[in-house]
Amino acid sequence: MTGCNSRTILAQKSGRARIGFLKKQMTDRLNQPEINSIVKTRWLGRHVTYYPIVRSTNDLLKEMASRGAPAGSLVLADYQIRGKGRQGRHWEAPPTSSLLFSLLFRPNWLAEQANWLTMLAGLACLEAITGQTSLKVSLKWPNDIVFQRHNQWCKVGGLLLEGEVANGRLDNAVLGIGLNVNMDSNQLPETEMPASSLSIGVGRNLSRLQLLSEILIRLEQQYETADQGQSPCQAWNSALMIIGNRVRAVMKGSDQIIEGLAIGTDDWGSLQIQDDSGEIRTLSAGEVTLRS
Ligand code: BTN
Repeated sequence: MTGCNSRTILAQKSGRARIGFLKKQMTDRLNQPEINSIVKTRWLGRHVTYYPIVRSTNDLLKEMASRGAPAGSLVLADYQIRGKGRQGRHWEAPPTSSLLFSLLFRPNWLAEQANWLTMLAGLACLEAITGQTSLKVSLKWPNDIVFQRHNQWCKVGGLLLEGEVANGRLDNAVLGIGLNVNMDSNQLPETEMPASSLSIGVGRNLSRLQLLSEILIRLEQQYETADQGQSPCQAWNSALMIIGNRVRAVMKGSDQIIEGLAIGTDDWGSLQIQDDSGEIRTLSAGEVTLRS
């Protein structure tokens, strides 16, 4: 039997009909006053722009950044027509099912420190999720949020950092966060690592805004600590589920494969793998899978 969920229906529609259909689907959509009332931070997320539908929150915030949007600006949407994932992939989520947002930082850090933002955001998401659910969530190098279900690792979220460097320093950085919050199993995207949602993990729907509020509070605190020079690397390493396990890694930009023991990351977030000859190989970007 072929399932006919909102994704298959959407694929059959185009243009204006598609937008009209999506708007009708959004019975649970967010609204600006409610969002403003849950933001309890001092500067992160204080300047919020909400749209029911956008192309990509990252793309929109990058445009706003080029027009001078302040650090801490937040763009949040209920649906993305062309949400972006890492390595040119798409990020798909049915309307109102997820947290889809981007945050603007203007850190003036060394360019090498850019990955600290991904580390901080991953840690903030883990803390926010474990604060509101009993799920044991972890991070998968370099930017996935995962948990184990029926002995299988499933992806529930991803982070996408897009930065601009000037004179060796990180001038501005847009950090996109996508979290599958309330998705049924028939709404999950097909991905290499099986996808899941927080609601599937805990067996009930969660408040997207409550989660957002908690993520912002934690990320603001952690960013300020990192901005004073304290590396998040050690905490991040402890949250990475691949460390201490055998992995198979495919290096970005080449098809080179490394197999061995994931022993940790360096301070800039590159993964260190000890291969079977004992040599330590360093991977700054790529895809990693666990080997049994
Ligand atoms: C990945 O795991 O590949 C990263 C996914 C990042 C998705 C988020 S959703 C909000 C923001 N806007 C985008 O277009 N992408 C990020």
